[in-house]
Amino acid sequence: MNRENFNMLKDEIIYFDNGATTLKPVCLSEAISNYYNHYSANAHRGDYDISLKVDSLYENAREIVKDFIGAKKSKEIIFTSGSTDSLNKIIFGYFRQNLKQGDEVLLTKSEHASNVLPWFELADEIGIEIRYIPLTEDLKVTMDDVKKSITSKTKVISLAQITNVVGDIRPIAQITQYAHQNNILVVVDGAQSVPHMPVDVQKLDVDFLAFSAHKMCGPTGLGILYGKETLLNMMRPIIFGGGMNASFEPDGKRIYHELPSLFEAGTPPIAEVIGFGAVLTYLQNIGMEKIQKHEQELATYFKKRAKEIDGIRIYNETAETGIVSFNMKDIFAQDLAIYLNKYDICVRAGNHCAKILKGELGIKNTCRASFYFYNTKEEIDKLIAVLKNPKIREEII
Ligand code: ALA
Repeated sequence: MNRENFNMLKDEIIYFDNGATTLKPVCLSEAISNYYNHYSANAHRGDYDISLKVDSLYENAREIVKDFIGAKKSKEIIFTSGSTDSLNKIIFGYFRQNLKQGDEVLLTKSEHASNVLPWFELADEIGIEIRYIPLTEDLKVTMDDVKKSITSKTKVISLAQITNVVGDIRPIAQITQYAHQNNILVVVDGAQSVPHMPVDVQKLDVDFLAFSAHKMCGPTGLGILYGKETLLNMMRPIIFGGGMNASFEPDGKRIYHELPSLFEAGTPPIAEVIGFGAVLTYLQNIGMEKIQKHEQELATYFKKRAKEIDGIRIYNETAETGIVSFNMKDIFAQDLAIYLNKYDICVRAGNHCAKILKGELGIKNTCRASFYFYNTKEEIDKLIAVLKNPKIREEII
């Protein structure tokens, strides 16, 4: 659907690497180009018309993000440089102050590096313990396993709503309900979920959420940090500078702004924020339920047709999203991705930044096809036809 909004889809390309980043609709480049060509002033610093226009559109985009994820207040939306930046700000800005030696953090082994490495660093720094919720045989997280993993020392559960290799949907609302009954906070990595399904932070009752604009038709270099106001008020900035302070004196006395400016030091990515506002309106007009349903249908179709292929192994048969991880017998994942490129088919191969999943998968590298709303069954048919080529192994070797 909506293929006409994407200039890149006018070429022959079959783009199945939407988990890495998505294609960009024309409304994004129009909004960005409009800013650069017609009112490219700084934000929150000028008293003249074009600067005031920037302020108004920048803050309007924050409102749009707030509504898109169902936050209570726009000050709970912080613009960052991406999910990685958001998670680092949450972990080093909030949890560094609010955890102590011996406290436990629960992760899973299918988390992305951005939701593991900052916790490892914090563990080295303040002595928290990292523990893992076990995954089921089909690599999912169940409430039973969450409950069994919690101890009296558990203070945080930090996990993706949808993982980038397995593509499973975690039961976030149930997890937060149980966690909160036990005074545990829940951090959600929404990088692979917010672009693909309706996400309402108040209904899910998540404490913190991180996601990236570029994985949902938006610009690169922009992410969102959502936090409940009470928690953000207890978070410290980890970047200091212009735009986040009201005053400072030679003796070091300083007064910082309140939310959300406190966490947006320096000139923000203005064009990107304004462009993202246009993109979210575009996605809302399509409808997130419709997007989710379409991707599920594509993944189901791919998995059904894959049964016609000799030697294909799918690692996440029961996943409920548009992510399919697979390998072909006797073909190295990277070689397959390079071979598919000859047919203008883009998939990702490797460990997909989820490096501790290899033990659970029993394999280090996979090919991953990740679909979005503009992909079609006809494109999947072309992928299947290439994979069915009886000479595929000879041609690769
Ligand atoms: N995290 C991105 C992916 O899964 C880059 O491909």
